[in-house]
Order: sequence, then structure tokens, then C-alpha cells
Amino acid sequence: MWPTWRHIRYTVVCLTIMGVCLVLWTSTAPDHSRPPEPGCPQGRFVTINAGGRLGNKLCQYCSLWALQRDSAAARPAWILPEMERSLGSLFTGLQLPTLPARCLERHQVPWYDPILHPWSSAAFWQVSYFQYVKTGGGPPHRPLLLLNNPCDMKHFDQHRTELLEQLRLRPEVRDEAQRRLRLHTDVQCRRPPGCTFIGVHVRRTDYAKQVHLMYDGTLVGEAYLMRALQLCRSRYRRPVFVVCSDNLAWVRQRLRGPDIVIAGSSGDGSAGRDMALLAQCNHTVVTHGTYGYMSAYLAQGDVLAPTGFGRRDAFLAEAMTKRGLNITAVQAF
Ligand SMILES: *[C@@H]1O[C@H](CO)[C@@H](O)[C@H](O)[C@H]1NC(C)=O
Ligand SMILES: *[C@@H]1O[C@H](CO)[C@@H](O)[C@H](O)[C@H]1NC(C)=O
Repeated sequence: MWPTWRHIRYTVVCLTIMGVCLVLWTSTAPDHSRPPEPGCPQGRFVTINAGGRLGNKLCQYCSLWALQRDSAAARPAWILPEMERSLGSLFTGLQLPTLPARCLERHQVPWYDPILHPWSSAAFWQVSYFQYVKTGGGPPHRPLLLLNNPCDMKHFDQHRTELLEQLRLRPEVRDEAQRRLRLHTDVQCRRPPGCTFIGVHVRRTDYAKQVHLMYDGTLVGEAYLMRALQLCRSRYRRPVFVVCSDNLAWVRQRLRGPDIVIAGSSGDGSAGRDMALLAQCNHTVVTHGTYGYMSAYLAQGDVLAPTGFGRRDAFLAEAMTKRGLNITAVQAF
């Protein structure tokens, strides 16, 4: 008997289901068959999500480092190659070792993000940072991936000196940032007495959505920036504002004045370049997001941050206040 179209359809459906099951099974079953890869850590260690942008990655690095430094049940901590690529090109002195890429490839699950889910899910516990802390070290004998972009500044700032030592800019990055700073502010600062450099980070674009989600609020705008800049003018000697933003067109239209320079760059590597520039400044005006706060953290001066832009204030501003950093809340609207 020749197979009918119906038979063929059923066969195709059955084979598809079997295929899906097979793929699911191989991806979730613990992989006991293969010997350990030389040079790859085994069992009980921890790594952290390398996702997000530069500000997130910095936060994640600091959070993980502080966690393994302080916890009695600390596991050996490793960073993922993506984090090393991003932070290692800017900073010298990172202490956490990088998990070799081949340790990731070995268990790569094709339809997962290989960086986020390098191990088969049964072998790799995915818990949030907060669960990890609650369970005092997570599941025994299993590698652990911390998710959720933690930025536990209240905790990691207890090790400020040691962290800033690890986050020293590479000499060539720092020199380039100093050169850019001088170039942009030469007109304003050529004559003595010297200027006070105020880094201004204006986060726009997709963060409008984040502010809504995280704080039930709206992006701060011109009114906040005018207020913050005015406060700086009354506080510091000859301030010059060095502005960086993810929306340079927006700031060019709104921030104008003899003491304001739009110094931010765009394109490949601009996040690192601009953070290095902001870190050269004496004080920082931030708007939203980890990038601005971490730039201010590296600059180590005073911080001006918005308040009243949503139902909750930024938790990083709160952390800085609690840690006794010099942070001034400026009304958003
Ligand atoms: C302010 O920043 C400039 C540029 O990085 C630096 O040369 C200067 O020493 C800083 N001033 C103070 C008081 O830290
Ligand atoms: C922060 O710094 C500013 C300017 O240097 C100063 O006026 C202010 O008193 C400082 N705030 C605190 C809490 O130290």
C-alpha cells in the first residue's frame, strides 16, 4: 500500500516531536560521559552574567569580587570571557580569572545564549544573586551562574580602595582621555586659575522604558540639568562641564553655554572612551543608570543625582548616601 498524505503528515509530526525530545533530553541531562576538560574549573565555583552594557558589567564584576571576598561559603569566582573582553581593554588590575572559552563551548546548548547558559541547565544552577546570598552559597558541588545584573554597591563599596585599585585605567586609555579632556576644555581653561572639571552623563534613548519599569518614573530632562549645573557653578571654582550622552543630538540642542562642552563620542568603543573621560573629571552630574553612577564612582569626586523622577529614587543614589559618599540630590522637575 502506498502511504497517503495523511500517513506522511503523521510521520513528519511524530519525527519532529521525537527530534525535539531528543534535543531537550541531551541538553538537560547531566553530562557524565565526557572527562573533565583540562584547565576548566570543576564543580563548585561561581561566575556571573556578563550581559548588559559597560555600567552593568562593572557592577557585576564588583559585586562578584566582593561576594567571593566576604562570604564564609565563598566559591572560587571566575568571570566570563565577554566580561574580560569588555573590562580588560579598559582596566588593569582585575583579579578574577577568566573562564576559558573552551570550558564554555564544551557544554554549549545551541539554541541558548552560550554565554548565559554555558552548561546544561541541570548541571548549572541559575539563581539570582539574592537567592545565592540567602542560601549562603547555593547548591553544593555545582557551578553557579549569577543572573539579574546585580549592582550591590552598598556591599562592594566596603572595599572601595581594593576595587579602585583593580579598576585603574590602562595607561594608554587614561592618557587618551586626558588628551581629550585638555583638547575639549583648552579654550575655557587655558588661563589660570585652573578649571574644575565636571563630568555630565545624560542617559536617554531606551532608558526611558527602564525608568518607567524600575522607578515608575520619567527621564529627567533640561530642568534637572539646568538646576544641577547651576548648583555646580555656585559651588566650584571655574567649573567646565564635560558632557557625554547616548543621545548627543539631544544634548547639543539643549545644553549650550560658554562653560559647556559636548565631549562625548559615538560609534565603536564610545562607551569605554567616554567613561574614561568622565573618570578624569573632578566631580560628576549623573542622570540615570549604572553607567553614570559607575563613572562617578571612578572619578571619586562629588556626585549630583536626580531625585523625584519617579515613585522610587535610584537605589545607587541611596547606596552612595548610605556609604557616606558626597552625593547631592537635585530635584528632577
Ligand atoms: C581635577 O581633574 C584634573 C583632570 O583630571 C586633574 O588634573 C586635577 O588634579 C583634578 N583636581 C583635583 C583637585 O583633584
Ligand atoms: C559635598 O561637597 C560639597 C562641595 O565640595 C560641599 O559643599 C558639601 O558640604 C559636601 N557634602 C558633604 C555631605 O560632605
